[in-house]
Amino acid sequence: MNNRCTSRVEGWMKEHFPRHPHIYFGLSGTALLLEVFQRQPRSTVVLPAFFCPNISTAALMAGKRVIHIDADRRTQLPDVAQLERCLASVNEAETILLIDHSFGYPFIHLSDLRRRFPKLLIIEDCARALGVESGASDFILFSMYKTTAGSSNGAVLASAIPLGIEPWPGSRPSARERVANIAPLRYAYHLLQRIQCSEFRSRAGQVNTDVPPWTPQYGMPHQLCSARFFSELDNIQTQTSTRRAIADEIIDGLSGSGIECIKPAEGHQTAGHFLSVRVGQQSTRDLALTRLCKKSLSVARTWDIIPAHFRCFENTFPFGCANSKHLAEQMIHVRLAEFRGAKQRRSLIDELRAVTQNLAALPEKASVASFS
Ligand SMILES: Cc1ncc(COP(=O)(O)O)c(C=O)c1O
Repeated sequence: MNNRCTSRVEGWMKEHFPRHPHIYFGLSGTALLLEVFQRQPRSTVVLPAFFCPNISTAALMAGKRVIHIDADRRTQLPDVAQLERCLASVNEAETILLIDHSFGYPFIHLSDLRRRFPKLLIIEDCARALGVESGASDFILFSMYKTTAGSSNGAVLASAIPLGIEPWPGSRPSARERVANIAPLRYAYHLLQRIQCSEFRSRAGQVNTDVPPWTPQYGMPHQLCSARFFSELDNIQTQTSTRRAIADEIIDGLSGSGIECIKPAEGHQTAGHFLSVRVGQQSTRDLALTRLCKKSLSVARTWDIIPAHFRCFENTFPFGCANSKHLAEQMIHVRLAEFRGAKQRRSLIDELRAVTQNLAALPEKASVASFS
């Protein structure tokens, strides 16, 4: 059952994506993708290798053959040449292509692929990329929590074709979600995280699990989640330009430091939620994460675990997965909304510069810091 705020989100989606008039809500984007996979009789899913492994698991659960495309190191997006070779080798009428605009960096080849492979079914994953969707797809997935502060779940799928997903039962906000955006409590939470934070160790190389531990979560987003997401949609232009200005300042501050900020394709802009930064080798990345956590500076390690770390996907990389592993070990993703304050921006720039110049003292304690 739609709540009032969910209906407003639905109205916004229909207005902005008139070619995708069927709007479905869920607690989990992966669960919505599973519904798509299960409803499509196509046999194969082609998707990125530098990606959340749960989505690959959902494709396996739907009985699909999974093919992962390695990333391009420079862009963190699927390697276009590999993708084209792959699509030329499969039966396009039997294939679903899932493309993620990784951390809001637009994958600019979708319209061209749509034209050249018209029988493909294309899913555009905009979970962290609201604002850069090409629309040249059959489905567009958005997250209602990954780029919206305070909520812990929620997703919306805009579809060009009816899927017949019955609305799932409603949900309630947790106590944490209710208080998450109250400034003093947020401050206390960050302080607690800072105290608890100890040395970050990459999980890459330690992971040899058979299958990612994922089970679908079904339900409708609660009113608070929808209201927060709608507010983001309603202010998207102002918010995006503010965050892009923050990104520009950080990029400027890091210039000459040897730290590489990923750039969007020429003539394009990112969605403005994240700035993706290659810090250097894994040990430097881990040290950077540890130091940033200790200063309560919010960055994401996503994804240091990718499909390449699970046995069940061993034979799903026709072109290898070296670049995706490389990115999983070297990238950090700065949540731009958390750097509205000049002091935090300065601190982030100083910490990153210090880490890469090896000026940093070694961290004191060992265990794993947690970021979500
Ligand atoms: C790019 C991307 N899309 C979709 C999802 C699925 O999101 P959810 O947590 O809503 O299942 C994830 C999960 O991390 C993701 O990284």
